[in-house]
Amino acid sequence: MKRILYCLTIFLCACWLPIQAYLIRDATAADAPALLTLWQAVVTTTDSLASITRDEITLDWVNDILKATVENQTIFVAENEDKSLVGAIWGQKPKLRSLAHCLVSTIFFVHPDHQNKGLGKQLITYALANIKQSHPEITRIELGVMASNTAALNLYSSLGFKIEGRREQKVAKADGTFETEILMALLNPANS
Ligand SMILES: CC(C)(COP(=O)(O)OP(=O)(O)OC[C@H]1O[C@@H](n2cnc3c(N)ncnc32)[C@H](O)[C@@H]1OP(=O)(O)O)[C@@H](O)C(=O)NCCC(=O)NCCS
Repeated sequence: MKRILYCLTIFLCACWLPIQAYLIRDATAADAPALLTLWQAVVTTTDSLASITRDEITLDWVNDILKATVENQTIFVAENEDKSLVGAIWGQKPKLRSLAHCLVSTIFFVHPDHQNKGLGKQLITYALANIKQSHPEITRIELGVMASNTAALNLYSSLGFKIEGRREQKVAKADGTFETEILMALLNPANS
């Protein structure tokens, strides 16, 4: 009887709580078309990235981003079991010596069908661990978040990012209203 109950529990758990496996890895230049598709899917279904619209995300632009980040190893992607990209995070390293300790223009998103499943946390944790290892010189990671983006604000806060300021009416949305941007930064990631 005990054995039957055990098997039944395993079976029900497998049915109700399917475990999704993702591969998180460094991005390569070859990821450009898949990254374009993913980014466009994200901005089409949410306005959390209100500073950019679908038609503004072009293959040329994605190629430029990959050119600036792949060599520096500051871009990471999550791949689904079917090899499609379902998440991405990157930051840029300024060329100026006075800013070489910063990671700026950080962008981070997960495909809408894969949000709220823990992937975002896995992806940013992986990125931070890799930045610590490959870039001990980076002592400041900065990003901007829309004030209404509770999920992202909670996630960054839980990882030690601190709010440094607000930019009122920073982003004009398609409906004519404005969004406030919250500026956040993580200092000395190697110690966190
Ligand atoms: C923000 C984003 C990357 C988070 O990815 P995700 O895979 O959905 O997040 P996770 O499931 O890993 O959740 C991680 C944490 O986010 C927070 N969070 C997620 N969804 C939340 C919600 N609906 N409300 C409040 N907090 C939430 C929680 O702190 C959560 O940690 P916990 O589960 O330990 O409490 C994703 O929602 C996304 O791509 N949104 C659209 C684009 C975007 O906003 N990017 C960030 C721009 S700065």
